[in-house]
Amino acid sequence: MKLLGIDAIGVSEKELRWGKSFLMANYKRTQAPLVCANLYDKATKKTLVAPYLIKKIGAVNVGFFGLTSDKVDMGISRDSLTVEDPSVAAKRTVEEMHKKGATVVVLLSMLGKVEAEDLVSSVDGIDVVIVGRNTPLLQKGRLIKNTIACYGGEQGQYIGRTLVSLDAGKKMTTGENDTYILGPEVGEKPEVLTLVKSFEDNFNDKLRKAEKARAAKAEIDKANGGTGTTEQAVDHYLGAELCQRCHAEEYKQWQGTGHAGAWQTLVTQKKEATPDCIPCHVLGYKQSGGFQTGDDAPRLANVQCESCHGMGTTHESYPAQTKRITEATCKGCHTISNSPAFDFAIYEPHILHHPPASMPPLPPNPAKQKMMGGH
Ligand code: HEC
Ligand code: HEC
Ligand code: HEC
Ligand code: HEC
Repeated sequence: MKLLGIDAIGVSEKELRWGKSFLMANYKRTQAPLVCANLYDKATKKTLVAPYLIKKIGAVNVGFFGLTSDKVDMGISRDSLTVEDPSVAAKRTVEEMHKKGATVVVLLSMLGKVEAEDLVSSVDGIDVVIVGRNTPLLQKGRLIKNTIACYGGEQGQYIGRTLVSLDAGKKMTTGENDTYILGPEVGEKPEVLTLVKSFEDNFNDKLRKAEKARAAKAEIDKANGGTGTTEQAVDHYLGAELCQRCHAEEYKQWQGTGHAGAWQTLVTQKKEATPDCIPCHVLGYKQSGGFQTGDDAPRLANVQCESCHGMGTTHESYPAQTKRITEATCKGCHTISNSPAFDFAIYEPHILHHPPASMPPLPPNPAKQKMMGGH
């Protein structure tokens, strides 16, 4: 984040996943500009990080402050920290920033969608809110009372641009926000690219080594008269090529669905080596017989038959489990952040092997829409 030149960063329980001291050690080391006005260290009774900061951008003093939710579990940090009521903290902090000369105020909210929207409509003086924490992507920001709300989606896949118009007193009059996907058209920053690439290479190398060790162990097991592979003992994935031998019709229909192109999507986006992206775009990520490393792509890439029907080794029980394919089968991948428009009634007909003659069209997928740079 320092490399990217980010001016202010909000804090949620995710930053505290490895505990307070881990976060604080990195905060001190990097001097990353964290802000959070309602997160307190129980020991010192002070805010854990700066409550806000004011940055002169061009000729304008912009105040940034953060708020974290008082309704979530802080995990292992719960004993050392307390969270103050967000509205109380917001009123105090906005007033303080105005006194110190900020004319534009930006809230980095980690409150979730509903709570953030409620807060900005009840606390005056917040010009822009970046709505974070499990919030879906909206390509266009919305005006809530006098605040522009910006919704950037999850996993750093998008970038938002908010333009505000100011009056003579440098106060906001109007504004608008757009969010764009960070596709290959967006230039790479070489330093960041190197950092990400080396992380991915190391990580994938580690996976490859673990997979080799597992295969070697299975060979030894086989030589010793065991079951041959550790997989055969337990149920595992087989891959669509096998199913195709007996279910050519279903296979052909499947090939025409988006599921059969899910891996190519990542390749096109240059994300096929990114661990965060792989799980839902392949078969059985990290499970028995499923996709482990990039080497498995020829056989196990894409959303396949067994992604819906379950491991092929349980084939015998498929008919017994009537209507085993329900909305829950889809929702492991069609999550609110990755498939915000998902509606089982509308999506299901599009994947049925014998699709109905007519069906409602799929809603537009935000991930497919306009790319940065005006394409
Ligand atoms: C050797 C041939 C063969 C292979 C390989 C095979 N199947 Fe089948 N499958 C069958 C036959 C035959 C039936 C119908 C008999 C039955 O009802 O059990 C069937 C039935 C099914 C059914 C329907 C069950 C129901 O509701 O009646 C599903 C779903 C299915 N297979 C999926 C798969 C998947 C997924 C794979 C790959 C992992 C696969 N099959 C591999 C032969 C095969
Ligand atoms: C293993 C993860 C996974 C499961 C399980 C899954 N999907 Fe998908 N689905 C995806 C991915 C990834 C895509 C995007 C594929 C692409 O175009 O790259 C997708 C795309 C789709 C599309 C096409 C959307 C479009 O705009 O083109 C439909 C329709 C769909 N899924 C329906 C379903 C339904 C219904 C279920 C449950 C019965 C389901 N999916 C289960 C991962 C999954
Ligand atoms: C939790 C599961 C999940 C994860 C993780 C995930 N995706 Fe997806 N992805 C999906 C689903 C489901 C769809 C289909 C959405 C729809 O059409 O409603 C999809 C669709 C897409 C699409 C649009 C496909 C098209 O047809 O053009 C792109 C691009 C994409 N994903 C890229 C990524 C990238 C890049 C990452 C990693 C940052 C990622 N995905 C991580 C589940 C996931
Ligand atoms: C996105 C989820 C999904 C994927 C992927 C999928 N199926 Fe199915 N399949 C279904 C649904 C839904 C049914 C209808 C039965 C039900 O509702 O449980 C079904 C039914 C079947 C049946 C029963 C007979 C029939 O045609 O209705 C077979 C056989 C079958 N699938 C095989 C496959 C094979 C082989 C593949 C991979 C090439 C595959 N399926 C991929 C969801 C899926």
